[in-house]
Amino acid sequence: MTFTADRLLLFGATGDLSQRMLLPSLCALDADGLLAPELKIIGTARSQLSDLEFRNFAREALEKYLPANRRSGLADFLNRLSFQPLDANDMDGYAALAEKVGAPERGLAIFLSTAPSLFEATIKGLQHGGLAGDNVRIGLEKPLGVDLKSSCEINDAVASAFPEDRTFRIDHYLGKETVQNLLALRFANILFEPLWNANYIDHVQITVAETVGLESRIDFYDDAGAMRDMVQNHMLQLLALVAMEPPTSFKAGGVRDEKVKVLRALREVTSAETVTGQYRSGAVTGQIVPGYDEELGRDSNTETFVALKAHVDNWRWRGVPFYMRTGKRLYQRKTEIVVQFREVPHSIFEGAKTAPNKLVIGIQPEENISLTLMAKVPGLDRDGLTLRPVPLDIAMPDAFIGVHRRIAYERLLLDLIEGDQTLFVRRDEVEAQWSWVDRIRENWTKENLTPKTYSAGSWGPSAAIALAERDGVSWHE
Ligand code: BG6
Repeated sequence: MTFTADRLLLFGATGDLSQRMLLPSLCALDADGLLAPELKIIGTARSQLSDLEFRNFAREALEKYLPANRRSGLADFLNRLSFQPLDANDMDGYAALAEKVGAPERGLAIFLSTAPSLFEATIKGLQHGGLAGDNVRIGLEKPLGVDLKSSCEINDAVASAFPEDRTFRIDHYLGKETVQNLLALRFANILFEPLWNANYIDHVQITVAETVGLESRIDFYDDAGAMRDMVQNHMLQLLALVAMEPPTSFKAGGVRDEKVKVLRALREVTSAETVTGQYRSGAVTGQIVPGYDEELGRDSNTETFVALKAHVDNWRWRGVPFYMRTGKRLYQRKTEIVVQFREVPHSIFEGAKTAPNKLVIGIQPEENISLTLMAKVPGLDRDGLTLRPVPLDIAMPDAFIGVHRRIAYERLLLDLIEGDQTLFVRRDEVEAQWSWVDRIRENWTKENLTPKTYSAGSWGPSAAIALAERDGVSWHE
């Protein structure tokens, strides 16, 4: 059922995500007049805060995380906020929560940004408190489980109270402007689609490199590792968007149908096609940082880096490798997709070196699109033409001067409030993602794979470079 919610209930309202992303995004939306005047935002968490204390808490977060030029109307935004303390496991607490939420005129959007171990109890509590009716939808923050089994359990628990069309699973990468731009590039231009297949594309690279280490999430990260933290969700979503067939429209059903087909067509990856790593101390952007085990305070076999070679077994992508890598404490922060085309079938320029065309889609920190073309170097060329690759660059901020970039959660929270599921992940997608990842991890366990070490500030273990080089491919750097 489509409705624009006039109540938003935030679980985990005093948590890190809420401070850094959710409250700032909501305040920014409000400043731009994108929240209905009657929308009320109710925060809940274990902390015993009054409405006023929560507003002060929110004010501090906003002053810290939202640029001053986007804070206009801060006072009005704070007035929308109220708070109800709740222990998610205490079923009796949900009646008071329901009372605080009141009776929405149109509907209620709930966002769970709590530990997934609390999801089941929370869903029960919501049902118990009468907060799971037809005019309620629910948003779930990752991680949705640690493997297929636990993910199915969470999905079952959610489905017992909320049908799929009222369940919004967040993958914040889908809210990023440049990720959506990937769809615009592919499907709003005639240029690429005819070439977007195994006949013309040699391989694809997807890199999500981070310079940060464990941050404040030591235990969570050590249980998860890079494969479950990044590959299972963000990277597979990027792969699906690159590889999917054209959907019939930019609507939830079509986009998600096409993505899931790709995810289901992923071939099982052997251990020989994966490399895992763990950082040791080193210099990241000029600063010496400790190794993972030192940060953790104990030895661990958790991977902070993964590189792998994936294949999508369908007509379009037959024989085209998708090289993927992600890691913490790498040389630089960079998320990009590189589509490497094939060589021209025959060069008419005798003796001139040609390089294949390359499309580089920079997602962050710089949002840009660069297409490398071969061009003639100016000159008389008495001994034949000299050719050189030159980039055709589009820097998104320059192309759209004066239009401010929105952070992913602004878009996603607005879609949750308004009920548009296009940029949310459907149950079958999450489960296809887990089932592929589980098989890889099972192979690692079977073969006793332990992460190779790499220095913080590098591009990961040398074996990751070898993984691509074996096929004559170099990672784009
Ligand atoms: C989160 C991961 O989902 O994404 C983090 O749990 C990671 O480990 C983060 O740092 C990266 O997001 P972004 O938007 O900074 O690329």
